[in-house]
Amino acid sequence: MTDQYAVIGNPIDFSKSPLIHGMFAEVTHQDIAYTKILGPLGEFAKTVDAFRANGGQGLNITAPFKLDAFAYATERSARAELAGAVNAMKFDGNKVIAENFDGVGLVRDVVHNLKTPMRGQRVLMLGAGGAARGALLPFLEEQPELLVIANRTLAKAQALVAQVLAQQPSAKGRLQAMGYQDLVGEQFDVVFNATSASLTGDLPPVPATVFAPNGLAYELAYAKGLTPFLRLAQNAGVKHIADGVGMLAEQAAEAFAWWRGVRPDTAAVIERIRVPLV
Ligand code: ATR
Repeated sequence: MTDQYAVIGNPIDFSKSPLIHGMFAEVTHQDIAYTKILGPLGEFAKTVDAFRANGGQGLNITAPFKLDAFAYATERSARAELAGAVNAMKFDGNKVIAENFDGVGLVRDVVHNLKTPMRGQRVLMLGAGGAARGALLPFLEEQPELLVIANRTLAKAQALVAQVLAQQPSAKGRLQAMGYQDLVGEQFDVVFNATSASLTGDLPPVPATVFAPNGLAYELAYAKGLTPFLRLAQNAGVKHIADGVGMLAEQAAEAFAWWRGVRPDTAAVIERIRVPLV
């Protein structure tokens, strides 16, 4: 029987996951069906129970259910624990094993696709919400010289740093929390915008001087074109700018590999779903 997978969210029409996993299944010759589920608000557990009862093997989870998925899981990876959010699950009898592949997908896109090693580099992450949290452990594994988390609400960045240092005391000194005003006079090789500001066309109050001209500016949001953040970087002379299309494809490939034991190449998917940065 064809194995069943799906992405659950609300809204869900926009999701590219069925297209992406369909392409992966084709090139890897995996017999799977991957559908979209519009989850009624407040009924996450009931909807997933029904999916499992009908033979569902695994799910991707998108807004607004990443926290519900966290609560639904019986086992969670360390990065899902730190992120406080789950974007992929697999079912094994009564077990619900949960993961968060957003951060590893992001690192894979930056290091492998965009050929920007983070080892020994100065890295800046704007934002301390769910998107930023998922990336911290995978970032630290890359051994940057410095990883700064800057957030409008400084206390949130500080709490996050404290939480990571409790788990990884060896990161002390290499991981720091800052407010936006502390960034004046600092420069970074890689700057990530993990705030939700771009979704409303806003710009986090980041000084244009943070960008190293030969560095990379990366917008985690996808398909928003040249966001205010990317425009700021471009105007500051940064030539290497990217949005989250590669992250989207790579987190999907991680989930696919986790479910199916074979990791698809992402180049064709990225080519297909990329939206120009204009
Ligand atoms: P997500 O899951 O997308 O990360 P979130 O958990 O709601 O969403 O977090 C949103 C992040 O974007 C937060 O870091 C938020 O800053 P605060 O913690 O100070 O609220 C940040 N953010 C949203 N709009 C912003 C803006 N206009 N300027 C700067 N930061 C902004």
